[in-house]
Amino acid sequence: MALMISPEEIQKRVSEMGQEISRKFAGKDPIFIGVLNGSFMFMADLLRAISIDCEMDFIKVRSYVGKKSSGTIRLIKDISAEVTDRHVVLVEDIIDSGHTIRFLMERIGSAAPKSISIATFLIKPEVAKIDFTIDFIGFEIPPEFVVGYGLDFNQKLRHLNGVYRLEGDLVK
Ligand code: IMP
Ligand code: MG
Repeated sequence: MALMISPEEIQKRVSEMGQEISRKFAGKDPIFIGVLNGSFMFMADLLRAISIDCEMDFIKVRSYVGKKSSGTIRLIKDISAEVTDRHVVLVEDIIDSGHTIRFLMERIGSAAPKSISIATFLIKPEVAKIDFTIDFIGFEIPPEFVVGYGLDFNQKLRHLNGVYRLEGDLVK
């Protein structure tokens, strides 16, 4: 494994994102919806950098088996909050193909929120095929498989403080 983004770089960028989001949603009482499991660490750091009134909830979906996106997204746990007429910020760990975020936009959008924005820690712009705006992006990365800071390989390595490129014979 090789370090791609250090814990220090992450903390600096995530706190900038928190400030930017706080400015944009001041007085709007947004609700942040973290996408489990991958976003748990980003969500925790981002929310601690938010300086305005807000609420939070979680949704859980599954699309990946090993290193491949299946393209079929399954809803494992729905939100419990009421988002109709609310400003929603979806908090994702990474946008790869874009399948998951499209599914979530449609799912949350069907509840008629006042607005939906996306805050993603990472994006692979060379892979992502999306026809809507990603409002807040932590880092753009090359199309490589990464782990740490919430991101897993077969449920392992989420606990790492930095982002690492998975290399060698693990990557199959
Ligand atoms: P998408 O549906 O292809 O955009 O994939 C989104 C989901 O796949 C993310 O929320 C992650 O859970 C997972 N994923 C995509 N790329 C990676 C990676 O490089 N490392 C770990 N998980 C990933
Ligand atoms: Mg995820």
